[in-house]
Amino acid sequence: MTHDVTDLVVLGAGSGGYAAALRAAGLGLSVTLIERDRIGGTCLHRGCIPTKAMLHAGELADAARSAAEWGVHTEFDGVDAATLLARTDRTVHRLHTGLRGLIAAAGITTVEGDGELVVDRAGPGVRVADRTVRGRTVVLATGARPRRLPVAPLDGERIISSDQALRLDRVPERVAVIGGGVIGVEFASLWASLGARVHLLEAADRLLLGEDADIAADFTRSFTRRGVDVRVGAEITAVRRDGDLVHLDLAGERLEVDTVLVAVGREPVTEAFAGAGVGLTDSGHVRVDDRLATDIAGVVAVGDLVAGPQLAHRGFAHGIFVAEDAAHAAGGLPRPPMPMADRDLPRITYADPQVASVGLGERAARAEYGDIEVHTSELAGNARAQLNGGRGLVKVIRVADGPVVGIAAVGPGVGELMGSGQLIVGWGAHPDEVAALVHAHPTLGEALGEAHLALAGKPLHLR
Ligand code: NAI
Repeated sequence: MTHDVTDLVVLGAGSGGYAAALRAAGLGLSVTLIERDRIGGTCLHRGCIPTKAMLHAGELADAARSAAEWGVHTEFDGVDAATLLARTDRTVHRLHTGLRGLIAAAGITTVEGDGELVVDRAGPGVRVADRTVRGRTVVLATGARPRRLPVAPLDGERIISSDQALRLDRVPERVAVIGGGVIGVEFASLWASLGARVHLLEAADRLLLGEDADIAADFTRSFTRRGVDVRVGAEITAVRRDGDLVHLDLAGERLEVDTVLVAVGREPVTEAFAGAGVGLTDSGHVRVDDRLATDIAGVVAVGDLVAGPQLAHRGFAHGIFVAEDAAHAAGGLPRPPMPMADRDLPRITYADPQVASVGLGERAARAEYGDIEVHTSELAGNARAQLNGGRGLVKVIRVADGPVVGIAAVGPGVGELMGSGQLIVGWGAHPDEVAALVHAHPTLGEALGEAHLALAGKPLHLR
């Protein structure tokens, strides 16, 4: 049995864990990073990156179909799933190599293996096989995995999770996606682009529950127009495989498809420390205070382990925060970092159309501030949006006579608006301050500028 002591021990090298390791190393702390799989975690290997790579292929397929409208002759002649997988893997591989290089160059010690939290008189640490690494701070960063749905047991081939969907060696012809959250919507969008007949089945009364209701409704209209069969209030009573087909029983109806994706949320992975006395909430997340400290002294948790939006950039922010807090405690930083508010995180759903938001939706803003002003404009008036169908909305919400507290949008490419959106909401800008800034023409960003001009009482192309 060997024992090492470092300033920071990080269990899990996903977005939250590796960001903590990199920032801590940058601040001069000694760091050990423990991972049983590949550095980069869900985002790099089973989430953000491979899905966006595949969605890019979906955009190419859609562009090929619509090019003739512009006089460009192309033909969409199907998708070779093996090539799509290989190209996606190359993107992931390149980023993975870069990340490993960064971690090595930062002087971080990496340990490969299944770690387990130990807490005893010597303080907290992580045991991997016969080695225990003690840390002045232990960062739990083991992430989340797809939640199971008892009525639709996965078989890995025809009834699959999002992890398995990313390894699929064929494009489904007819697919049912269970769950109309971010993952369900992104895969439904991808497969519709690649030529599948898609049924999107959501138990609640609307898609994208985390988004502003008007924006989600507009998204659903566009999605339906693309040919996706969206069913809300769906009640699935049985899912059965029969050879190469899968039968789904819905209340009063049966669907027959060749593939079912189960995308009903993700659950935190806590086995590595649940036995060591780390407190969990009713939802199974790690119980933390506003500095991400768990019930055990010296042990903090980051990313998807902590209840809230499951976003890679939230993981990065958590990781940086705990690293800076540890550096401050060790005397290496003069001031402690400020805790991050989930509310100000930008959120983007990379479907066609995209949905993007930051801050509060209309309902939440009204509940919090009472007196608010809302401006909603159509993207149809934006020259750049015209090149891409011209459909969509931008919604800006301000406290009456006060700052902008929410921005939400739906339409092609609106995710790119959230760079500015986040600055506006995060800085608590007032509409007339944003209205004074000139946006380049013709850009999608002008839609945001124009919405602020309108809210400031001086609309140009809008009423
Ligand atoms: P989610 O919680 O966003 O959505 C799950 C949906 O499934 C909900 O709308 C729920 O009502 C529905 N559902 C649950 N049980 C059902 C049933 N029996 N039948 C039909 N519908 C049912 O979870 P999702 O989409 O799996 O995503 C997990 C996390 O990953 C989210 O926090 C999401 O934000 C994050 N993520 C973020 C991405 C991004 O930022 N672009 C991309 C993918 C995931």
